[in-house]
Amino acid sequence: MKNNTGKLIVAIDGHSSTGKSTFAKLIARELNYIYVDTGAMYRAVTLQCIEKGFFDKGDEPQTEPIIKELDHIHVSFRRNSETGVNETCLGNRVVEKEIRTMAVSAHVSYISTIREVREKMVMLQREIGEGGGVVMDGRDIGTVVYPEAEIKIFMTAEEEVRAERRRKELEEKGMDTDFEKVLENIRKRDRIDSGREVSPLKKAEDAVLLDNSDMTIDDQMKWFFETFRELIDETGNEG
Ligand code: DC
Repeated sequence: MKNNTGKLIVAIDGHSSTGKSTFAKLIARELNYIYVDTGAMYRAVTLQCIEKGFFDKGDEPQTEPIIKELDHIHVSFRRNSETGVNETCLGNRVVEKEIRTMAVSAHVSYISTIREVREKMVMLQREIGEGGGVVMDGRDIGTVVYPEAEIKIFMTAEEEVRAERRRKELEEKGMDTDFEKVLENIRKRDRIDSGREVSPLKKAEDAVLLDNSDMTIDDQMKWFFETFRELIDETGNEG
């Protein structure tokens, strides 16, 4: 699909901890496109549900009150004029930090299995990407949100490689985490993301597979521009 602005939609899906957002952000910067972190949107919904006490009875959400709450959940992105970075907002509140806590990470997979939550997020994502010029990362972008995207990438890496990257990340944040625990969490998230009934994580047939187990971020950027050079040049981007 070529939209009327001539700008592309870049859809990036894949497993947890494959470095999707780092990769997507860099591509957006290079192409001068908007970057949309759809995981942040599901995280923001999760945060509001935690604050409302919907998880008080355990890990599994109480679906009914969450669906009722949806009309009162307002997720958006706001550009921070100092840093130039898009920040996730819940109502008028910037929640960029709060949505990255362990509590949110532990519950977000469940929230993202709820059909009504997904329908609302997909609608919002389509509004944001209207007109193209967007790099969006998530789990269902190439399959559900933008099946017509010109560029679709499915990212993966070996489980152990992803677990070690995640463990390092947590260590850098001062969290002492056991490798085996991180690996188990990654396996659990893969199971939930790929096994859920609504919009399960899967590679779109026309997505290009990127296994970055042995690649640096520079390797990945080189791969991106080599693979999609022609398409990008057609739209007049420098790349
Ligand atoms: O990318 P992330 O780890 O921040 O995503 C958080 C969770 O949200 C993850 O468990 C899967 C879910 N998610 C989803 O179901 N669909 C998306 N488009 C993006 C994220």
